Amino acid sequence: STRVLTGITTTGTPHLGNYVGAIRPAIAASREAGVESFFFLADYHALIKCDDPARIERSRLEIAAAWLAAGLDPQRVTFYRQSDIPEIPELTWLLTCVTAKGQMNRAHAYKAAADANVAAGEDLDAGITMGLYSYPILMAADILMFNAHRVPVGRDQIQHIEMARDVAQRFNHLFGAGRELFVLPQAEVEEDVATLPGLDGRKMSKSYDNTIPLFDGGAKALREAVARIVTDSRLPGEPKEPEDTALVTIFDAFADAAERAAFRDALRAGLAWGDAKQRLVEQIERSVAPMRERYETLIAHPERIEETLQAGAAKARAIARPLLDELRHAVGLRRMQ
Ligand code: TYM
Repeated sequence: STRVLTGITTTGTPHLGNYVGAIRPAIAASREAGVESFFFLADYHALIKCDDPARIERSRLEIAAAWLAAGLDPQRVTFYRQSDIPEIPELTWLLTCVTAKGQMNRAHAYKAAADANVAAGEDLDAGITMGLYSYPILMAADILMFNAHRVPVGRDQIQHIEMARDVAQRFNHLFGAGRELFVLPQAEVEEDVATLPGLDGRKMSKSYDNTIPLFDGGAKALREAVARIVTDSRLPGEPKEPEDTALVTIFDAFADAAERAAFRDALRAGLAWGDAKQRLVEQIERSVAPMRERYETLIAHPERIEETLQAGAAKARAIARPLLDELRHAVGLRRMQ
């Protein structure tokens, strides 16, 4: 069988980018025949970016409820929290010892922070933790721990998955004795929605504060957020150029080919931006409203979600433990006899 795995960092409320970039394709993949899926809450990753325990706690609940509301079937999918799997940090160390420091210097998240420091005339590494620096190694452990073949993600995660491949290759080479201890994972990115834009046209991201919440705040919050999407100053009745606008790209992510064409035609014929936004809200609501109803019910029962995650952790550990034992043996951490 083929293994599909993906995770979301629990630092905020799930947004449309998480949904179209990861949740939706991952759930579709989990329904394919012969696929075994692993979806998880990346709460150790959350600690890298967030020192607010209440926010992490809330985000874990919201992201778990979002996965379930979007149709994740916990009977079919191994659904768990990263921090419930002690084998993951253990594997992280084994991988850390074979990861080149120079490669970590080139990782996007670290490099962006270091570049910003330099631009601000500060010390290169000012305020940068080892957590941020070794972030890709923890992510490699997430993926390799379950020997995932396919990793559905948005474009921003491709580099991390390539790094996971490199580490896996290096580990296999050093310790595999001719065997493949690790599968080499492949990023799976849907071209259309690889980078969903946010309110300001940049990538929708918690760190840019430009997100549209998937469920939080209900239809009202969705309407308010959509109203804030930046558009040009063309007036009602003036023809609009639909290509390369955030509004149309977001519409596309929730529409089929015929709906996309009709929306473009209406804009070229002079549909006002306000009306276009109204149509966008309706289009998103068509997929999101039924899920939001399930979400509200799910989130009212954290104890049930907790139970689901505990059961998922047990399934995950039953796979992780034997592989980790094999890896420990391979590197020389063996019993004396
Ligand atoms: P995170 O939490 O930033 O995002 C979760 C998923 O959502 C996708 N995504 C987007 N896709 C399209 N357009 C956007 N604007 C957009 N914003 C976010 C991300 O690409 C991602 O797929 N490091 C990861 C979490 C992680 C992980 C893993 C993922 C930890 N371990 C192992 C896969 C496999 C992250 O911070 O994603």
